[in-house]
Amino acid sequence: MPLSVVILAAGQGRRMNSDLPKVLQPLAGKPLLQHVIATARELHPANIYVVYGHGGGRVQSAFPDADLQWVLQADQLGTGHAVMQAMRIIPDDHMVLVLYGDVPLIRASCLARLIGAAGEDSLALLTVNLDEAAGYGRIVRGPEGHVIGIVEHRDASAEQLLIREANSGLIAAPAGRLREWLLGLGRENAQREYYLTDVVLGAVKSGCPVVAIPVASAVEVLGVNDRLQLAQVEAGYRRQRTDELMISGATLADPLRVDVRGNVTVGRDVFIDVNAVLLGNVNLGPRVRVGPNCVIRDSNIAADTEIHANCVIEEAVVGENCRIGPFARLRPGAALGTAAHVGNFVEVKNSQVGSGSKVNHLSYIGDASIGAGVNVGAGTITCNYDGANKWPTIIEDGAFIGSGSMLVAPVLIGAGATVAAGSTITSAAPAGKLTVARSRQVTVDGWNRPAKQTEEEKATAVETALKPV
Ligand code: UD1
Ligand code: CA
Repeated sequence: MPLSVVILAAGQGRRMNSDLPKVLQPLAGKPLLQHVIATARELHPANIYVVYGHGGGRVQSAFPDADLQWVLQADQLGTGHAVMQAMRIIPDDHMVLVLYGDVPLIRASCLARLIGAAGEDSLALLTVNLDEAAGYGRIVRGPEGHVIGIVEHRDASAEQLLIREANSGLIAAPAGRLREWLLGLGRENAQREYYLTDVVLGAVKSGCPVVAIPVASAVEVLGVNDRLQLAQVEAGYRRQRTDELMISGATLADPLRVDVRGNVTVGRDVFIDVNAVLLGNVNLGPRVRVGPNCVIRDSNIAADTEIHANCVIEEAVVGENCRIGPFARLRPGAALGTAAHVGNFVEVKNSQVGSGSKVNHLSYIGDASIGAGVNVGAGTITCNYDGANKWPTIIEDGAFIGSGSMLVAPVLIGAGATVAAGSTITSAAPAGKLTVARSRQVTVDGWNRPAKQTEEEKATAVETALKPV
């Protein structure tokens, strides 16, 4: 059966106390709904319908993707009513999977089990056993143990509130049957809403089996209704990602103190120390070591590279065996060759640093192309900006730049050139030669240190010195 996924995202999310529609609240830096859509796509469905309503235009414009079909639910009359809107366009011979825009941690593997349990005539529910089930619908079973209904928390009797088997809200059912069951819904309940959960009554009435599938881990069906739950879901997301990293072969100094917000892949024997924040697409090759307090976003770090404490690395490509930091900053467009060293308080932007080259202390390298085996002395700066334009610096293989040099771009330092410390280089430094660009040192004979002056003498001196010219 072709699969149609329906994602419910029309609710207001009143309990968030926010101007932002609930499904746009960020989880790991991305809207809640985006996580659900990404999981839906993993199932390769024929269609993905997103039911929207509250904050409509804003939700829709946050997802311009062509594979989404938007279904308006003008009035939020309940989860059953929301699904009904989409059912108008879903063919009878499709399997329907209902997801919630505010239940973002669900995994595709779990959904595949749920879909597998729903047959041509049966309804499958994803359930979860909870010690604290407040707010959740409870699964009601008959004397033989069959599911006979779901009762919402607000409609439940004291006895039913003791039930620990809770409804995740996610269901799978054949479209033709689901449509039938939805048509039978009423609003005679505490919230005067059409409850999706009441399709269970329809299924039971028509003699169709209702299969309860327990979720593998409760965190997958955590819903976000308020900001406390948003924080719990964020922690759950972190936990899922750090588990994946450890299973792939990374050692984490403390899994609770690594924050993954994106797609991070790791090779074997990677080590990540505490307080690492990994954002976007990050790839850490085998045996890469990440020191404490590093932020790495959208970067590729090749095998055996060591990143010391307190580095910020964004949109950078780092070769094998490099040494970075502590306190280094690689900005977008930084590319380090094999075994390059970028040390403390060094900033590299839009620049290549060739194999074996070293920029070890207190430097700014911007819009530069540095060859292999170059040594850039402490405090060297590529002066790439003239106040209006950015200019390139080229440093060829084997050059040696003395400490404290200013390289005023555009400028070329030839292969094997040596630049004397403290030079301000404004034109090409020829290959293989020493270039010195600083005033000569002089020693003044017979010079005396200043002597203490009277207040009067000082006043006269100041007046003379500060006279406008
Ligand atoms: C729902 C279930 C409950 C389950 C819980 C799990 C019903 C009646 N109850 O309760 O059994 O335990 O989820 O998290 O289904 N929505 C719409 N249109 C509407 C109403 C809601 O699109 O008219 C969307 C919301 O945006 C949200 C989802 O449906 O994404 C769930 O709605 P919500 O009001 O949060 O339901 P719960 O009270 O949590
Ligand atoms: Ca909810």
